[in-house]
This record gives sequence, structure tokens and C-alpha cells, in this order.
Amino acid sequence: MSKSLNLFVPAIGVTTLALGLAYGLSSRDYGAQTIETLETRVQQTEANVARAIADAQAAADEAARLQTERDQLEQLAAEAAMSGSNLTDPAPVIEGKYGLGRTALSEEIAAWDVDVLPDGRGLPVGQGDVFTGEEVFVDQCASCHGDFAEGVGNWPVLAGGFDTLANEDPVKTVGSYWPHLSTAWDYINRSMPFGAAGTLTPDETYAIVAYILYSNDLVDDDFVLSNENFTEVEMYNSDGFVVDDRPELEYAEWQAEPCMVNCKETVEITMRATFLDVTPEGGGDSVMNDATTSDSPVFSASASAEGSDDSAAVEETGGVDPALVAAGESAFRQCKSCHQVGENASNRTGPVLNGILGHTIGAVDGFRYSDVFQEANAAGEVWDAENLTAFLADPRGAMAGTKMSFRGVREEADIAALIAYLQSFDE
Ligand code: HEC
Ligand code: HEC
Repeated sequence: MSKSLNLFVPAIGVTTLALGLAYGLSSRDYGAQTIETLETRVQQTEANVARAIADAQAAADEAARLQTERDQLEQLAAEAAMSGSNLTDPAPVIEGKYGLGRTALSEEIAAWDVDVLPDGRGLPVGQGDVFTGEEVFVDQCASCHGDFAEGVGNWPVLAGGFDTLANEDPVKTVGSYWPHLSTAWDYINRSMPFGAAGTLTPDETYAIVAYILYSNDLVDDDFVLSNENFTEVEMYNSDGFVVDDRPELEYAEWQAEPCMVNCKETVEITMRATFLDVTPEGGGDSVMNDATTSDSPVFSASASAEGSDDSAAVEETGGVDPALVAAGESAFRQCKSCHQVGENASNRTGPVLNGILGHTIGAVDGFRYSDVFQEANAAGEVWDAENLTAFLADPRGAMAGTKMSFRGVREEADIAALIAYLQSFDE
């Protein structure tokens, strides 16, 4: 505050001076116009003074805020120093790692370390009775799980279902299925009420769990559950689970010398994943739909043209093997995010690729190429199978400085297919 007051003085001084000047000049009988001008100046000066006062006030407020922030930081640092770590220290460099992070504070670990184990470890001190549990349950859980934990609509049932585990359609509830009570406490504490997880107090959770036990006829209505008697509760299905002993007893048998080579006399490849087009884009315009493989799943280069007039098919694709074109279409998916082909294609991140083979490098209208492409264009270089193959295999290797940020196509067969596919689009 005192700082801002200091600023007032010169500001007020300016006003006084201006007013004095105005008065002195007007008394010497300058024209009325001059006086008017001077009055305007006085008004302007007053406005400036007002603004200066406001600015000074804002500056003082900001200074006060920064001071508070600094005090808080100092206090934090002091606290951290007392608990053995220093927030202002650089992160410790850990040998062989990335040198990131710091050791978690014990408070931070405690906030996450909420798990409760079957033997009662991790349970907080607390207790809750069945009646209180019923109240909380009706209030916070019944809208989904029903007043008696019987489940509403499709929400999970939490009670009943006894003697159904061997049925085809078992009813698995906390009562019929869960072997450990700790799972109920832990799960409810962490994740319920659905949408408001973490809002229950320990006592509320004890009470709710007591009520769920009651709903499952495991305890009487005067039962009080606490961290002390928790492990005494016996669940119906506590013996229903076994420890998985397959690693010791069974794995050895399954792994007896598996056959790795020449296991079958003849091998017939019936399908290739790329041709199968497992995840078709654009509503299933897949190779499988194009190819005439009516009743047999066998697919080979010739099978795709089977039943149609070979020469006609070849003509349609500009003299290129249709199976290869189809494979190229599949491979072109990795290009689609940047390139378009076909009738209404437009430049995107990359240029339109219609008729690219035999075309001058870097010559698509309206596309801004990198320098290396512009140079190739100026030199009149043309895309042929050879330089296109090299470019697609390793774009940056073949054209250092290219804007095409793409790692390259690994399989040579895919490149041949891609070129065949691109050839099927005229300019
Ligand atoms: C808005 C609806 C809703 C409310 C309210 C709600 N739950 Fe749930 N509850 C669910 C859903 C949904 C699941 C299944 C979650 C899943 O499988 O991921 C579930 C699962 C459970 C399960 C595990 C059931 C099983 O057999 O897998 C328990 C136990 C449970 N809730 C208890 C409670 C308790 C106790 C409350 C009140 C504190 C509560 N829920 C409030 C919707 C709700
Ligand atoms: C991340 C975007 C991106 C991907 C993916 C991409 N390209 Fe490109 N492509 C470009 C850009 C940008 C250029 C222009 C290069 C330059 O100016 O340096 C280009 C240029 C080209 C050219 C030369 C065009 C001309 O006019 O000379 C061809 C051919 C080409 N890409 C083919 C492909 C093929 C085939 C694939 C897929 C295997 C592919 N690109 C994947 C962005 C991409």
C-alpha cells in the first residue's frame, strides 16, 4: 500500500502544475479558444492521474499476491526439508535410467496404498452395524443394487444365488461367490457408489459390508463389523477357489518337445492375412469382395481373376496384374492419411498421386514441395519404377530433406504392389 501512495504524489503534482498554468495563462487574457484547449488538457491530465492511481493499485495488489505466493512456497520448502526431501532440489539422477522423478513421499504412498488383504492387513480402524449399513445402503446403493441388494434391472445382484454356482447360469454374488470378505470391503471402498467412488468413510464402509453380510444371511441383524472381528467372518465360498498349480503340475507335460520343423508332410497355404483384409476400411471394399472366390477360401494370384476374362481384367487395371493391384490397395492404407488417389482426389499433407509413374517429380499442381523435390523437378527428373522403389523404401534416404515424414515400406513385394496400384490411376 505504501508503495502505491508514493506514486500519487508526482501524479497530483502534475495536476496542480497544469491547473496553475491554465489559470495564469487565462488571466493574461489569451483568447477563449486557448483557454478551452487548456481546459481539455487539464481534463486529460486528470484522466491520466486517475489511470495512474488505478495502475498503482493493481501493481500493489499484484505485489501482495506474489508475496503470499512466495510465503507459501517457502513454507512448502520448509515442510519438505523437514520430511527429508527438498522440492527445489533437481530430480535425483538414477544410474542407467532417465534421471526422472523423485522418491515418493510417505504421505503420497499412503494416499494410494489402500488395499485390504484377506488377512485383514490394510483395514483402517473403524466399525459399523447392520442397521446403519441399511440406512447408508438404501441412501447410496439401493438405486442400482436394490433395497435388499437384490439388484435393480441389470445392475449387479449382491446377495443370494446360493447353490447356483454349478448351474449353467450361475448367480455370482458377494454371498454366493466371493471367497474373501476383504474383497467386498476393498472394492466398495475404492469404487462405490458408482460415479462417486472414494466418498465413503471407513465406518460407513464397515456398516455397508455388515448389511451385505446380513442380506446374505451370514450374520444377524444386531451384528457389528469392525477391524477387530473382520477376519472371523466365514464366507460361503471360501473353499471354492484353488491356487493355480498348473505351472508345477501340467505345463511340463504340455511342453514336452514341441515339434517346430517339418511337422506335417505337406502344407497348403489357404489364405494370407493381408488379402483377407481382416479390418476392412470404408465398408468392406476388400480384396475378398473383388476376387471371385465364391465357395473356396483358397486365394492365389490367379484365383482372383478366375472365372472372369483375364484380358478384360488386365485391361481394366491398365495392363497390370489385378491381384497385385488389389494387394497394393491394401498396402496403400499406410499412405492414405496423407495421399489421395482417384477421381476427386485433392492434395492433402501429400500431393495427389494419380498417374505418378512416368510423371515429372514434384509436379502436381498447387502442392508446395520441399527444396529437394523442387530441385529434382527443375532438373526434369521423372518417376520410374526404380527411383520410386528406392523412394518408397526409404524416403529420407532417397530424397534427403523430403517433407514426406514416413518411415518407408519394408517389404519389397509391398512396394511392387503399391506401384501397380498407383499405375491403375490415370492422371
Ligand atoms: C449408479 C449405480 C450404482 C450405485 C449407486 C452403486 N453401484 Fe455398485 N455397482 C454398479 C455397477 C455398474 C457395478 C459393476 C461394475 C463393474 O463390473 O465394473 C457395481 C458393482 C458393485 C459390486 C460388485 C458386484 C460383483 O459381483 O461384481 C459391489 C459389491 C457393489 N457394486 C456395491 C455397491 C455399494 C455398497 C454401493 C453403495 C455405497 C454401490 N455399489 C452403489 C452400480 C452402482
Ligand atoms: C505423413 C504423410 C505421408 C505419408 C504417410 C506418405 N506420404 Fe508420400 N508424400 C508426402 C509428402 C509431404 C510428399 C511431398 C514430398 C516433398 O515435397 O518433399 C510426398 C510425396 C510422395 C510422392 C512424390 C509425389 C510427387 O509429386 O513427386 C510419392 C510417389 C509418394 N509420396 C508416395 C507415397 C506412398 C506410396 C506412400 C505410402 C506407402 C506415402 N507416400 C506415404 C507425405 C506422405
